[in-house]
Amino acid sequence: MSVQLSQQGDVAILMLSRPEALNALSFAILEEIGAALDKVAGMPVRALIITGAGEKAFCAGADIKELRGRDLVAQKRGAELGQRVFAKLDTLPVASIAAINGYAFGGGLELAMACTFRVALRSAKMGLPEIKLGLVPGYGGTQRLPRLIGQARALDLIMTGRSIGAEEAQTIGLVNRLVEAPILDSALAMAAEFTGYGLPALGFAREAVQRALDLPICEGLKVEADLSTLAYRTQDAEEGMAAFSEKRKPAFRDA
Ligand code: CAA
Repeated sequence: MSVQLSQQGDVAILMLSRPEALNALSFAILEEIGAALDKVAGMPVRALIITGAGEKAFCAGADIKELRGRDLVAQKRGAELGQRVFAKLDTLPVASIAAINGYAFGGGLELAMACTFRVALRSAKMGLPEIKLGLVPGYGGTQRLPRLIGQARALDLIMTGRSIGAEEAQTIGLVNRLVEAPILDSALAMAAEFTGYGLPALGFAREAVQRALDLPICEGLKVEADLSTLAYRTQDAEEGMAAFSEKRKPAFRDA
């Protein structure tokens, strides 16, 4: 298996484990990631961390050796597979953190962009270098990058194929936080900042923000009114507001 799924406390950890090829994404590995994400959806966890095995790479992208010589139908199906697998992260019941421990290129950065959050070591390098291969990002990069960092910056990265360091990635909003090694500990610490809140409120908040990117503002505001009202109706909201008044810590029950 080139993907390892484990659990630490209330956090699932998905490790890409093909360090000899810098965790490059063969189609078989994409299928394994998809199966692992399905399992995460049924696990009693409150967050998911995705990271790469070895010292060098989060993931160096699609397996370039496997990409050669494919017919167009197979290639399109491959792109759709990558998109479908990464899209599972959008609808996962829990938020995900990409822990970028080294190179994140091409499909590797596309996987990280599909996560809810990205943290990176200062030494990490990332980019969408497909243009250098005569290719165009195919696992969501042309759609997710402009949504994260804006069209002008996305075009800069996609059309030059240049690699950027973690500090620039944070400056442009591609990475949420620069963190210290060991990255798994840093990612677990970040997860602990939100896993104590109620899952319904976390889910509604994530959904409202995700939909903001796809909707005209008048529609988005309606979604916000609906989801914030749903949150208000939860027992967790009652508990949270009561705890505030009684000057105690709330005990959320995901209800
Ligand atoms: N596919 C297949 N194998 C890869 C790979 C990839 N994307 N990236 C690295 N490897 C393999 C190398 O071939 C090498 O294997 P061998 O020892 O058998 O030759 C091994 O991993 C180590 O790689 P390097 O020797 O190249 O390591 P380096 O430290 O010198 O360079 C690197 C690191 C800059 C990341 C370089 O490996 C590189 O440029 N990799 C390709 C990055 C890339 O172009 N990614 C985009 C792929 S296309 C894509 O992802 C399309 C899409 O949108 C889905």
